[in-house]
Amino acid sequence: MSMVPSDDIILEGIGLKKHFGGGGLLSSPTVVRAVDGVSLGIRRGETFSVVGESGCGKSTLGRLLLRLIEATEGDVRYEGRSIVKLGKGELRGLRRELQIIFQDPFASLNPRMNVGDIIAEPIWLHNLAKGREKRERVADLMRTVGLLPTHADRYPHEFSGGQRQRIGIARALAGDPKLIVGDEPVSALDVSIQAQIINLLEDLKDRFGLTLVIVAHDLAVIRHMSDRVAVMYLGEIVELSDTDSLFDNPLHPYTQALLAAIPIPSPTNRQPKALLQGDVPSPAAPPSGCRFHTRCPHARAVCKEQHPALETATDGRQVACHFWREIQGAGAGSISAPPSPALARRLALYRTWRERQDKPVATSA
Ligand SMILES: Nc1ncnc2c1ncn2[C@@H]1O[C@H](COP(=O)(O)OP(=O)(O)OP(=O)(O)O)[C@@H](O)[C@H]1O
Ligand code: SF4
Ligand SMILES: [Mg+2]
Repeated sequence: MSMVPSDDIILEGIGLKKHFGGGGLLSSPTVVRAVDGVSLGIRRGETFSVVGESGCGKSTLGRLLLRLIEATEGDVRYEGRSIVKLGKGELRGLRRELQIIFQDPFASLNPRMNVGDIIAEPIWLHNLAKGREKRERVADLMRTVGLLPTHADRYPHEFSGGQRQRIGIARALAGDPKLIVGDEPVSALDVSIQAQIINLLEDLKDRFGLTLVIVAHDLAVIRHMSDRVAVMYLGEIVELSDTDSLFDNPLHPYTQALLAAIPIPSPTNRQPKALLQGDVPSPAAPPSGCRFHTRCPHARAVCKEQHPALETATDGRQVACHFWREIQGAGAGSISAPPSPALARRLALYRTWRERQDKPVATSA
């Protein structure tokens, strides 16, 4: 949050939809509306987070924004240019500038390649350096993410989870990207390691002037990383706000419920517990009107009938609820409550780590 982002939009989604199935001969007859009409603009230099329960379309949105999957409808603009119709050659350049890191670094790293080759692959693919220069670049990248360059000939299974995530990050950095999407980049890691990886991502962001888009379940992680947050429910954005306002005064009943239920991590249970009463309805048959009405404590008759538009509230915040003005502050009681012990522990760990690691980083003013 060191760099103050401007209104300069680096990546924009316009009316994005991704519907799975229902199409050709081989696909399922049921249409899953994974992303269902999302518009948003990511500002250059910011950390933008996307939150919501499992299955609400976060990963699909992240992939749409990078054009790793094709949109059913809508447009994506990178640096002001539509990227949904780019040909192969142009896509290659785009792949270098827009990178992704995944939740499970092990699954996303080729087990038969050594770490040096894994990190060198984008350098080779995009013809950025050869021979000795390439090896030096890999060593630099390894140092940058806190790995020992002498470990370049080891294989992914010889590293711990946190180290593997560092390898994934080094690989993402190898092509000198402008924007990185992190799809749950720390959810598979232990709490103490999470803080290290978050810290690393923040430092890299400052050093290389990156823009970060972070997909996550975990609101504690998000609070400390993000400039702005989009809250998704069943394929739609229900609230979009700067981080402090969102946490201090959540406008949407769904955001309020999420904040009231920050999951408690433990080494034996890495799956966050259910955040809310009841399951998320199927995105194949989203509820009529407001999609949250089946679980919303404030729902009224009109909520079943009318779909609330995402409207601009105060300070440029956006919210999709017919009654946000009345509900505001009447939240789930979490807003002024002290942090849970788990959150407090995590924040303390994070702070300690930061203090220990904090070296002055040169940033352009
Ligand atoms: N390739 C696919 N084919 C069919 N359905 C899919 C596909 N990918 C995702 N979906 C469905 O789209 C919906 C949204 O999935 P998505 O992975 O984007 O959610 P998510 O918010 O990232 O969830 P999680 O927090 O569990 O990662 C889910 O119902 C999922 O089952
Ligand atoms: S529109 Fe109605 S159901 Fe939807 S969040 Fe607002 S109050 Fe709840
Ligand atoms: Mg996901």
